Amino acid sequence: MEIDYNELAKKYDLTRKENVDTINRFLENLSFSEETNILDFGCGTGNFTCALKRITNANVYGVEPADKMRQKAIDKNTDVIFEKGNHEKIPFMDNFFDFIYMTDVIHHIPNINVMFKELNRVLKQGGSLCIVTESHKQIESRFWAKYFPATVKVEKKRYPDIPEIVESATNNGFVFSKIETTDANHKHSISKNFLMLVENKGYSMFHLISNDDHECGLADLRNDYSKQVKIEYSHGETFLWLKKPFKNW
Ligand SMILES: C[S@@+](CC[C@H](N)C(=O)[O-])C[C@H]1O[C@@H](n2cnc3c(N)ncnc32)[C@H](O)[C@@H]1O
Repeated sequence: MEIDYNELAKKYDLTRKENVDTINRFLENLSFSEETNILDFGCGTGNFTCALKRITNANVYGVEPADKMRQKAIDKNTDVIFEKGNHEKIPFMDNFFDFIYMTDVIHHIPNINVMFKELNRVLKQGGSLCIVTESHKQIESRFWAKYFPATVKVEKKRYPDIPEIVESATNNGFVFSKIETTDANHKHSISKNFLMLVENKGYSMFHLISNDDHECGLADLRNDYSKQVKIEYSHGETFLWLKKPFKNW
């Protein structure tokens, strides 16, 4: 089943926003000026794009295939240029961007080899690419896997694992820089926001499991929410950093 982001656009911003820690990580790793060209690839409703524009005042661009997601982004900030595009066609000239990032996108890409080739084309030599995703191990250790075990199988099927991503990137002109993970021990009760996110199927994986599996997990989740049960987990995200090397003439 295909995820329809034009449909999800209606409710996307009810439960999803930019993650400040992610943006801080970009800022710690790179320096930005008003001359820097940044691309948010698969920018959705522009939450990260607009935040990065506010913080850096660099030239920030977003590329997004789903018209209704992109329109929400355009409505948020007219200083950011949002264009229609996808992994096959990024509507910018060669060697244009200093930095490209993608948050929560790679598992939607049908052919990551094609994507890396296209990203490599629009990135400058010496430019950086950061892919924010989750490894298979991180997917297995999500705290909600206990409520929705069916999500683990569907997620591992659509998320390329980190070695596969690195191999495809390096086959298509990138060099590996480093991997950072944000795994840390957490213990807290279920938030109202998370419950709302699940009720609204705010993560696309909830559209890939049966309604019965969703309803059943939601009933257990509501129960634990009402009792303020403390949940322990350690799963975070993976930041994969790559570079486009300078050419030796
Ligand atoms: C989970 S959303 C993430 C949106 C945004 N990056 C964020 O973190 O809020 C995934 C996004 O990937 C986009 N997407 C799906 N297929 C794509 C493709 N082939 N090329 C680029 N983006 C794609 C979707 O339209 C959607 O907006």
